Amino acid sequence: LVLVLDYGSQYTHLITRRIRQLSVLSLCISGTSPLSSISDLRPRAVVLSGGPHSVHTDAAPSFPDGFLRYAEENGVPVLGICYGMQLLVQKLGGVVAVGEKQEYGKMEIAVAADAGGSGLYGPDAAGGHQTVWMSHGDEVVRLPEGFNVVARSVQGSVAAIADPSRKFYGLQYHPEVTHSTQGMETLQHFLFDVCGVTADWKMQDVLEEEIRVINGMVGSDEHVICALSGGVDSTVAATLIHKAIGDRLHCVFVDNGLLRYKERERVMSTFERDLHLPVTCIDASEQFLSKLKGVKDPEMKRKIIGREFIAIFDDFAHELEQKLGKRPTFLVQGTLYPDVIESCPPPGSGRTHSHTIKSHHNVGGLPKDMKLKLIEPLKLLFKDEVRTLGSILNVPDSFLKRHPFPGPGLAVRVLGDVTEGNALEILRQVDEIFIQSIRDAGLYDSIWQAFAVFLPVQSVGVQGDQRTHSHVVVLRAITSEDGMTADWYYFDQKFLVDVVRKICNNVRGVNRVCQDITSKPPATVEWE
Ligand code: XMP
Repeated sequence: LVLVLDYGSQYTHLITRRIRQLSVLSLCISGTSPLSSISDLRPRAVVLSGGPHSVHTDAAPSFPDGFLRYAEENGVPVLGICYGMQLLVQKLGGVVAVGEKQEYGKMEIAVAADAGGSGLYGPDAAGGHQTVWMSHGDEVVRLPEGFNVVARSVQGSVAAIADPSRKFYGLQYHPEVTHSTQGMETLQHFLFDVCGVTADWKMQDVLEEEIRVINGMVGSDEHVICALSGGVDSTVAATLIHKAIGDRLHCVFVDNGLLRYKERERVMSTFERDLHLPVTCIDASEQFLSKLKGVKDPEMKRKIIGREFIAIFDDFAHELEQKLGKRPTFLVQGTLYPDVIESCPPPGSGRTHSHTIKSHHNVGGLPKDMKLKLIEPLKLLFKDEVRTLGSILNVPDSFLKRHPFPGPGLAVRVLGDVTEGNALEILRQVDEIFIQSIRDAGLYDSIWQAFAVFLPVQSVGVQGDQRTHSHVVVLRAITSEDGMTADWYYFDQKFLVDVVRKICNNVRGVNRVCQDITSKPPATVEWE
C-alpha cells in the first residue's frame, strides 16, 4: 500500500490513480491525520501531495509530529510533491521562500548527470531534459542537511531533491499530470526501484476479495436491497453483490417520470437480458410529477425528488418484508472512492463543493428509519476502476460507457416547473436526437457527458413561411475527469449544423437551438 497524504491539491486524487494504474494499491487520507492513522495502514511509501497553501501561513496543514521519525525508523520512503516537498524541506530545517519568479504551466527541467544514483530518477533520465508541469509560487532556497538537488528548472529553481540515505525525496513539479511527459516513469522508478513495492494490485483480486467480504458480512438467510439507477455505479455494485449472494439481492428501478427517451424500457431489458438481474420496476411517474407541479425552485425540486425516492424505497422494503417474512438487512450503495476521501479542503477553493452548491442525491439515499446496514462494495474504487471491474463481471459496454445521468433526472434540465406544457416530452426528443447524432458521428466515447436543456422561454422564428413563437433548447457537451471541473466539447461546424436542422425539423415546438460553451467553473455541468 502506498499512502497519499492530501494537502488540498486539485491533483491529489490523480496521484492515487496514477499509482493504481501501476498496479499498486494506493489510498489517500487527510494530510493532517494522526500518526496512528498512518502507521496502522503500514504503508510501503508515503507521498505528500501538493496544495494551495504556503508553508509560511499559520493555517498551513502538516503531517503529524513524529511522522518523519516514524518513516526513517521504519524505512518508509517519503516523496513530497510541490507543497509536499516544501513542507518536507521546512520541517527538516531547510528554507522555503516566496519565489522571485513564479512558475506555472509547462516547464523544462534539467536532471543532474549523476541523478541516477539518487534513487529518484532511473539511469535513462539522468543528464537529460524533461518537460514537466509546475504550479508554485514559493520555492526551496536552502536544502536540509543530507539532501542534494537532482534537477533544476531552466529558470534555475530547485525542481527535484533527494536524501537517498533517509529515502526522503521531493519534486517541485507534478509527475501525476500528463503534461509532465516522463512523470509516470519517475513515479514508476520511485515505487519499484526505490520503495521495492510489487505490482500486484489487480481488479480480478479486488473482485474475489469483495465477494469474500460480502459473503462474510451477509448471513446466509439475510436479504439485501439495491436501487438501480441504470448508471454505471449502481449496476456494477448490484452485479457484484448478485454474484456473491444470488437471488437474496432484490433490485428496484424507479421510473420517476423524469427519465430520458425510452430509458425505462432500455434499462430494464438490459438488466434482464444481459445481466440476468431480477429487478422490480416501479412506475412512480405520477407520484413524482404531482409533487413537482408548480415548483420552480431548483433546490426545492431536488429535495422533493429525494424525499419521494426514499418513500418509494421504504414501501419496497416493506413489501419485501411481507413477502419474505423478514426485513431485508442490507442496502447497497454505489459510493465511489472520491466520495469517501476525507480531504484537506483548500481554503476558499470550493473543491469538494458540489454538495453545498447543489443538494446531490443518490438514488436510494439513506432512509434512516429503515435501519438498514450499508454495503458499499465500490467505496475504494475510482470510476475508471469500476468500469474495469464491470467488464470483468461482463456488464455490457453499453452500460459501462454510459454518460453520467443525475439522480433528479430531467428535472434539472427542464428549467422551472417540469410539468408545464409538454416540456419533458420536447426535451426527451431533442436529447435523443442529440445523443443519437453523437453516437452516429462516433463521438460518444470522447465526450464525458452530453445532454439537452429545455428553457422556459419562447422566441420568434419562421418555419415554412409561418411565424412561430416556440421554445428554445440548449445543447451541452463536456469533457471532464470526474465532473468536478469541465470544459465544453468542441464540435465541428457540420455536426452542429446537422443536429440543429434535425431538431428543428423533427421536434414540434422548438424553433431555436443554442449551444452552452461555458466551462465548470464558472458554470456547473447541469443547469439546475
Ligand atoms: P454539477 O451540475 O454539480 O454536476 O456540475 C456534476 C456531475 O454530477 C451530476 N449530478 C448529479 N448526479 N445526483 C447525481 O447522482 C445529483 O443530484 C446530481 N446533480 C448533478 C451531473 O450530471 C454531472 O455529471
